[in-house]
Amino acid sequence: MCKSKIRDRSLLLLFLLPLVTSDIYLHNPRGSNNRLNEITATRSNANRMFDSQNNDRGGYNVGDATDTAAWIDAKKQYQMKYFQSGSALPGDESYLDIEWTNQHGCGGNEDTSPQKQNCIMILQYMCQDAQDDVPDADMLRDGVETITQDYSKPYSLVESEVQKNIRKIYSVKLSRGLQEKWEWYDNCNLRERNKGLFTADQQLNANNGLGYSSAIYTRQNPQGTMRGYECPEERDYHPYWHPSPWRDISILAENQTMCSSHQSKSFNTQPYHECVEMYNPGGKRKHWSRWNNQKDCINNGGKWIQFSNYLEKAHSYLSEARCVGTRNGMRYIWAVPYDAEDVEQKECLVALEQPDCQEAPWSRSNHLGDGNDGKNLNYRWRLPYFPSAHEHRCVFRMRYNISTDDYDPYRTDSSYNTAGNVKSPVQNNPEIDVGGPSKLQLALNTAQTGRVFQDRSHVFLLRPRPMSIQNGRLFNLNVRGKRGNIVQVYPAVEYDFTPNNLEMTERDMVHIQWTGSNTHNNIAPGGDGDTGDAGEGTGGTDRSNLVQLRKLNDNFPLPFESTTMWNNADVMWIPYYAPGITADKLALNMASAGYYRCVTTSRCFEKDNQNHIVETKTKLQNQLNNAPASYEGAVLRFRKGIYHYMCTRNNNFSNRSQKGTITVL
Ligand SMILES: *[C@@H]1O[C@H](CO)[C@@H](O)[C@H](O)[C@H]1NC(C)=O
Ligand SMILES: *[C@@H]1O[C@H](CO)[C@@H](O)[C@H](O)[C@H]1NC(C)=O
Ligand SMILES: *[C@@H]1O[C@H](CO)[C@@H](O)[C@H](O)[C@H]1NC(C)=O
Ligand SMILES: *[C@@H]1O[C@H](CO)[C@@H](O)[C@H](O)[C@H]1NC(C)=O
Repeated sequence: MCKSKIRDRSLLLLFLLPLVTSDIYLHNPRGSNNRLNEITATRSNANRMFDSQNNDRGGYNVGDATDTAAWIDAKKQYQMKYFQSGSALPGDESYLDIEWTNQHGCGGNEDTSPQKQNCIMILQYMCQDAQDDVPDADMLRDGVETITQDYSKPYSLVESEVQKNIRKIYSVKLSRGLQEKWEWYDNCNLRERNKGLFTADQQLNANNGLGYSSAIYTRQNPQGTMRGYECPEERDYHPYWHPSPWRDISILAENQTMCSSHQSKSFNTQPYHECVEMYNPGGKRKHWSRWNNQKDCINNGGKWIQFSNYLEKAHSYLSEARCVGTRNGMRYIWAVPYDAEDVEQKECLVALEQPDCQEAPWSRSNHLGDGNDGKNLNYRWRLPYFPSAHEHRCVFRMRYNISTDDYDPYRTDSSYNTAGNVKSPVQNNPEIDVGGPSKLQLALNTAQTGRVFQDRSHVFLLRPRPMSIQNGRLFNLNVRGKRGNIVQVYPAVEYDFTPNNLEMTERDMVHIQWTGSNTHNNIAPGGDGDTGDAGEGTGGTDRSNLVQLRKLNDNFPLPFESTTMWNNADVMWIPYYAPGITADKLALNMASAGYYRCVTTSRCFEKDNQNHIVETKTKLQNQLNNAPASYEGAVLRFRKGIYHYMCTRNNNFSNRSQKGTITVL
């Protein structure tokens, strides 16, 4: 249930047992659920970046790079750094295991475990080329305060570019988080809403202040509440019928039969139209138009332009003849990019591929738990490969869309909306006759019979692979969870490694890396859950490390002399200069979360390692209190074997278990 959405107490009572309610929480990469760095159990602003419709608890703070909280210093935050795939060819994939819990069940329809609602999951990401000269106002960022970005509508529909720029400058705050750009929201607020949509008996006559109802008003968001610069209409519907900055990774559909429809309509490969108007004839493109269809667009002097989505621009191919084709498994197209300034000019674009689509993994209703197979709900994302070899700043987004069969979700449109003699097939809290003298009320909110939940990651980097790891498959091994015991962190989770059972071959690589916060204190207000941060070491702080165990049932790590893991590892990449790094140095680094790199000065020649020597550095506190909360780690290759490992700080037998296994075949 979603308290943040409900301000009125009497309404709250009606919604105590909503027919359809559920939430989605991302655990890897860590989902923010709109948190930033709050020390409280509840997030302080449910509208910070996006509309989650989730509970106010849950979510993870942005990472801290050091042992102290970053607070207002964005440079002291830590963004996860994943290596891109090495090429588009099989065998060079980088994989990130997406892990989540969803409350109301999804997937499959077996007789033994029938589903109680329809469900679709949409996995997407958005990136920005870190080598582009992106204006500060548009920079993808986590921000250092929890307030939502500002927005003001134009004074009139006739606005010059200068006036628009002033409006933007006064709205966008560099200290606040930003994912979609300001223009995206402005465009949404100024474009008429799609009046063909089913809105049941919700009254969406709301006016954007300029005389008409726009795409910020939807059945699920009838008041047009703003959350970050997300466009409510785009958020609620997929596939969306206009261009959007999001790229589809995968659709986890109700069943396999639905996949061809989802895939063929994905903006990854299916271009969509938008109405384009100019500031003055022959002038610059306005970033918005009121018209959402071809007829209105053309009748009002606009141009109905077809736009394409893309992975990145291929600036070096200047003509169609040079551009179009397939190179090293990547498709190149000559088309108008969705964010074009000059809509008459086609450009060479690296195309996206059709998204993956499969049946969603089965999960049980009213239960934030694992799937049928006893494993975490997860999806193995093959990270993109960018031929430019540019680093990208990115965000991951996952939506969880559930609907009932009380009306046909795909064929019910605006002709079923309550108006005149028409009565919507679903009504708010209807009373039904059950044959007795009194009627019974159903808890049904038509803003929610067909509802989308969402979680998003904080910003992360997709880095090109350095030469030493250019080829081969690469897996990411991370830590999930946050400080506290199971009821204190709920609906987030306690610490664990993820994936905690990784299978790979001798030719594959693994990037061990994690991030944590120093402000997971989980103090009051606790919303509808427990407060407190049971755990080891300094209150509120996340720490992890990695040491080898003989058996998973053990809780004592092996002394270095008995370990096999480090002698059997080849360091393929490490973020500092370490030629021929020895097993003991690697083990020391992993055990100290990067605090130490060498034992003695005499064995630590390189300049950038001088501040990380056991002999000279302040002693590492035995619960890692003075170690950094995040660890950039290393990329390793292992020889055949089974390696069990644990975290010395958080593993606390009978209370917490943070252990994992790497099996190398
Ligand atoms: C959710 O599902 C409904 C059908 O029930 C569909 O109309 C809508 O576009 C979907 N939205 C998203 C974001 O998946
Ligand atoms: C797949 O799901 C759709 C949408 O709910 C449904 O109409 C169809 O009957 C399902 N197909 C199968 C084979 O289950
Ligand atoms: C282990 O966890 C329990 C419960 O949170 C706690 O009381 C105890 O102090 C912990 N042990 C250590 C060594 O931190
Ligand atoms: C685990 O926690 C309980 C209290 O919750 C405590 O009594 C017990 O000693 C803890 N175990 C360890 C190893 O600290």
